[in-house]
Amino acid sequence: MSNISIGYSDGDVDTNESGNRSLNAIIDDRYSRRQTILGGLQASAVAVFGTALLSACGDDDDAPKGSAITVNAGADAATTSGNYVTLKGTVTGGTGGNSWSQVSGVQVALIQIDQNTVAFVAPAVASATPLTFRFSAENGTKSDETVITVSPAALNFNAVAKNLDDVVTVPAGYSVSVLTALGDPIIAGTSAYANDGTDTDFASRIGDHGDALHFFGLNAAGERDYSASARGILVQNHENITETYLHPNGPTNLSSGPRPAAEAIKEIECHGLSFVEVKDDGTGKWSYVQNSAFNRRVTPNTATTFKGPVAGTDYLKTKYSPSGTAGRGTINNCANGYAAWGTIMTCEENWAGYFKRPSSGPEEDTANRSDREQTALARYGVRSSTGNYAWSSATPTQDIFTRWDARAGTGAATDDYRNEPNQFGWVVEIDPYNPGTTPRKRTALGRFGHEGAWVGKLTPGKKVAVYMGDDSRREYLYKFVSATNWDAADANASNRLAVGDKYLDNGTLYVAKFNADGTGNWLPLVFGQVPNRPATGGFPEYVFESQADILVNPRLAADAVGATPMDRPEWTAVNPVSGEVYLTLTNNNASNRPLNGTDAANPRHYNDPKGSSNQYGNPNGHIIRLREAGDDGAATGFAWDIYLFGADSADADANVNISGLTADNDFSSPDGLWFSRDQNAAGQINPLLWIQTDDGALTDRTNCMMLAALPGHVGDGSNVTITNKDSTGATAQQTTIAGAAATAATLKRFLVGPKQCEITGVDSTPDGRTLFVGIQHPGENGTYDAPGSNWPQSQSGTASGRPRSAVVVVKRDSGGIVGL
Ligand code: FEO
Ligand code: CA
Ligand code: CA
Repeated sequence: MSNISIGYSDGDVDTNESGNRSLNAIIDDRYSRRQTILGGLQASAVAVFGTALLSACGDDDDAPKGSAITVNAGADAATTSGNYVTLKGTVTGGTGGNSWSQVSGVQVALIQIDQNTVAFVAPAVASATPLTFRFSAENGTKSDETVITVSPAALNFNAVAKNLDDVVTVPAGYSVSVLTALGDPIIAGTSAYANDGTDTDFASRIGDHGDALHFFGLNAAGERDYSASARGILVQNHENITETYLHPNGPTNLSSGPRPAAEAIKEIECHGLSFVEVKDDGTGKWSYVQNSAFNRRVTPNTATTFKGPVAGTDYLKTKYSPSGTAGRGTINNCANGYAAWGTIMTCEENWAGYFKRPSSGPEEDTANRSDREQTALARYGVRSSTGNYAWSSATPTQDIFTRWDARAGTGAATDDYRNEPNQFGWVVEIDPYNPGTTPRKRTALGRFGHEGAWVGKLTPGKKVAVYMGDDSRREYLYKFVSATNWDAADANASNRLAVGDKYLDNGTLYVAKFNADGTGNWLPLVFGQVPNRPATGGFPEYVFESQADILVNPRLAADAVGATPMDRPEWTAVNPVSGEVYLTLTNNNASNRPLNGTDAANPRHYNDPKGSSNQYGNPNGHIIRLREAGDDGAATGFAWDIYLFGADSADADANVNISGLTADNDFSSPDGLWFSRDQNAAGQINPLLWIQTDDGALTDRTNCMMLAALPGHVGDGSNVTITNKDSTGATAQQTTIAGAAATAATLKRFLVGPKQCEITGVDSTPDGRTLFVGIQHPGENGTYDAPGSNWPQSQSGTASGRPRSAVVVVKRDSGGIVGL
């Protein structure tokens, strides 16, 4: 009796029961004798001919003979890494005892669906790889086998078109749902969010402007389990606010005060971070747990501790902290990093503007400031006449408001908040698994406009490197290298912040110099090795007095050693396989970097027209990457190239669109940047890179977006000489080192956000089958009575209501790894 019952499906690969041999089997036969030398050809042939032809499968070569009981494991078939593959066996005349097992090939975890059905996620492979599975019946006495050949990862989705819709758009075959949004109550007893400006208690709610996020797994018992994919703590930064939507009729006296205390408290508490337990109900539907003991808000009012070389020095002494070891809160938390020992490293980015400290006029404090202080304050931009949102003006007066007034009085530093700006601009380590612990500010990593802090590839016995961008135009890329070698046993320590002390409180801070020949140097910012900063712009020579001075003022030290100013360094990301470091350079403008200001690492100057406006400089940005010498994070030399250049493909010529972008993958102003986790196929062998935009240059054509990429490596392209042109028509040539051009196979638009948003923040569950994405400040240009967006209500068709920043869950309908 023959048995033809095929049960193979993975959502993308259909099978039928035609009995034709699979293309895969034909290719196997044809090339079997030459497989060693033609392995790559075999892989590409499978990929090129794709899944449609493979649907003509249905072999039954392995069926048992001579038995009344027949067992069939289904047809051989082909798939690609990350697909969700279902194996369905059939038995005729059997009495039970059926089971599946894997016979050979890369080991996969079989998910039991029912007695005859299992599923697995196709693993990462470097070339087409057969996996053989056995379906047994009668307690193993009868069996049949099937071969699923897995080809390397591919971007198996159709690119999302640029659009200006007020929804999150994802590819066909994907779904999107809102997980948490501004104002959601995360503490028991907190009321549901009214979203009309009347809500209070934001220290018990999700904050505004959600930015970088990270998922920390929990097992069923509620214990730390970094491999858990069904339950975890979602940690998110809350970078800023759109104040108009937070109050019934917008903010009161925003421009100069006095601000009502209740409004100021609300705005302050909307900053910081949220920690909230999230879970999958078992069907792929995610929600958060309002009363979880893990839930926590860290706001600008939360007690913090200073650690590292600056702790306890005069630089940090304030009225609140006469010892210079304590602080309050964290602000403008933008990107992040995470540590292998289970902590979040949140980063304080544009903190300078929150302080009132006019540098001229009747309220200036320069008479009470030393030349050194004035130089440092100017270099960090602490010069606002009121401070963002004028919190220091709030009445009735409280210390939590006056701390934002950084003017120096005539008394001692411990009499006022002149040093409060020195308490911000740090990387802050927090233990999400222990909400009772105090956040620690890691001063060894330096103080600047910290975009993110991504830990390099860890190697036992080697030092730990952390890569950090300083987000302002013409700022630098930094690296911290621990004094201590990595011990993998520390990943499982119970006192996680003590492990942070071990690796993050002692080490060397470096800044990057990019040379025109494709090499680069890490320049140590070490007291005694850094020369004085020359007199600049009306400020006298700056003479460093200590390592603490250098760590409070790395920008001054980096100026002094001749680091390379970049086109606004944003996120860093590390390829988990190669260890190569990627850095988004979001954009620059003509006033900050004119035609003659280019260099090999910041090579373009051009116009990207937007409607009737011109945008000169580097409005679309680029992504640079580097490979450490010897693949050692402690190296002082590296090789670099420019992985990708942003462009408007409809406007750009070959001097601008160097990466060959098309309508399916053009983008502008890259910001968020993240490689898929190495815990699943998307982060293995040829890891998937996610690129998010915070753009204003291409927004005549599209809202901000997220792209998926399969990048190559440093040196996979060639030297390019660009002809730049400025607004006068003058031209200049600049040579750079470009990575391989993008193709439809290596770069695709995956998601477009709602109106007036930024896409920022991304992580997945360890299995890669759930992606969390942050949608920040939809409708940011609107007002409470004329919102610029109605998202997330608009996602389900309601075109009304105030917009809210939110985290969305993106799932693949087939159950496979998102993006593959
Ligand atoms: Fe907060 Fe540089 O983005
Ligand atoms: Ca344009
Ligand atoms: Ca950002």
